[in-house]
Amino acid sequence: MTNTISRQKFLQYTASAGAAVLLSSLESFASERPDKKLRIAIIGCGSVSNRYIPHLQTSSLLEIVSLCDIKYDRALAQAKQYNLSVGTYPHIDKMLGGPPFDMMITITDMQVHGELNKIALNAGKHVWSEKPMANTYAEGKALLDLAKSKGLRIWGAPAVVNSPQFAFMSKCIQEGKLGRVASAHGQYGHTGPTWSAFFYEKGGGSMPDLGVYNMATLTGLLGPAKSVMAMLSIVNPERTVDDKGKIKVEAEDNAHLLLEHDNNVISHVMCGFNYFDPHGHEAKGQSLHSIQIYGDQGNLRLIGYDWETNGVYLDNSWTEPAKLYQQDSEGYQWQEGATKIGEALVKGIEPRINAEHALHVLEIIEGARKSSATGMKVKLQSKFKWPMIPPTPKGE
Ligand SMILES: NC(=O)c1ccc[n+]([C@@H]2O[C@H](COP(=O)([O-])OP(=O)(O)OC[C@H]3O[C@@H](n4cnc5c(N)ncnc54)[C@H](O)[C@@H]3O)[C@@H](O)[C@H]2O)c1
Repeated sequence: MTNTISRQKFLQYTASAGAAVLLSSLESFASERPDKKLRIAIIGCGSVSNRYIPHLQTSSLLEIVSLCDIKYDRALAQAKQYNLSVGTYPHIDKMLGGPPFDMMITITDMQVHGELNKIALNAGKHVWSEKPMANTYAEGKALLDLAKSKGLRIWGAPAVVNSPQFAFMSKCIQEGKLGRVASAHGQYGHTGPTWSAFFYEKGGGSMPDLGVYNMATLTGLLGPAKSVMAMLSIVNPERTVDDKGKIKVEAEDNAHLLLEHDNNVISHVMCGFNYFDPHGHEAKGQSLHSIQIYGDQGNLRLIGYDWETNGVYLDNSWTEPAKLYQQDSEGYQWQEGATKIGEALVKGIEPRINAEHALHVLEIIEGARKSSATGMKVKLQSKFKWPMIPPTPKGE
């Protein structure tokens, strides 16, 4: 499976002038700096940088040139750990004053993503941001508009739509293997990160950290949500974390969301930081059905989490047992988003991940908070190009 589509196919698929404008900003790097590697600056050298840096290092098209962290010793430690001869900086302004780079990868505390991404765009840099891209939908939409006005690109995690299991499920739905689709469920939880307080502070929470994967998968498979209803709660009001000791939990650590899609399809997401799971934070070997999609002629059950995929059961026979498909993840890894986006910039092709989808998920998260606070159903405005897997043309 390839995670990208050719320029010609992309244009045929979208058939829109707007898409061509976006593509031209993608192509500019490829035409202006042919045969050059994309120069990358990483901001945030904490836990997840241990997954990002080695993955970026597997690509011959990318080059890490700068590392930045307000805890400066972390930038120094990661340069040493990964044998990188790069500039190291204690502040984004200092990094922007250092050697030039093309794209910033934002993997800091969630609460500062929006402001850092804005500074990078204003300085003429493309951006890959861990989730969420911003603290609110309005802030995220303004970032996307800013990027477009400057001929730049911004993308947000997660990369779940890249997995071959996502593609398999999308194809099954589009080919009618489930009949009339009715309902879906997604879940993700563990007992919560132990290293940083921001996960539990205002602007953090189990939705932007965990539920975001299921929301991206379910909207990616079923289409944009038209409305959301939610109940959120704090089950564990106090935590002890490495960076701040004992803290008060301010953001939801338990969330249930109902999403209304087109054609009367309803999906449900549950996520939280108080879910016992013997597979832990890494989730290797997980056999739980974390995503389930039901139609009147069949159902799909994704084995493992949607970011750590192990196969998909398709059950659509009254007589035969369910069959397990797509056990091979074909190289897909959840931390691949920045690498794939960087490579897409170099090659001038449009990746499957798109910013509008990440923004839609951000609007869902904000809507869920409003719904839980008011007890009301909240209408959603944003859309994204869907289906995300182009339909297979007849005869191919
Ligand atoms: N840890 C994981 O396994 C994991 C997995 C997927 C996604 N994520 C996402 O990655 C992001 C980071 O998570 P983490 O677990 O690495 O957190 P972390 O606390 O381990 O690291 C965050 C780092 O960002 C730095 N930082 C904060 N504000 C900064 C600023 N203004 N400028 C420069 N550096 C700054 C902190 O000093 C810290 O070193 C979050 O959005 C999280 O949701 C984490």
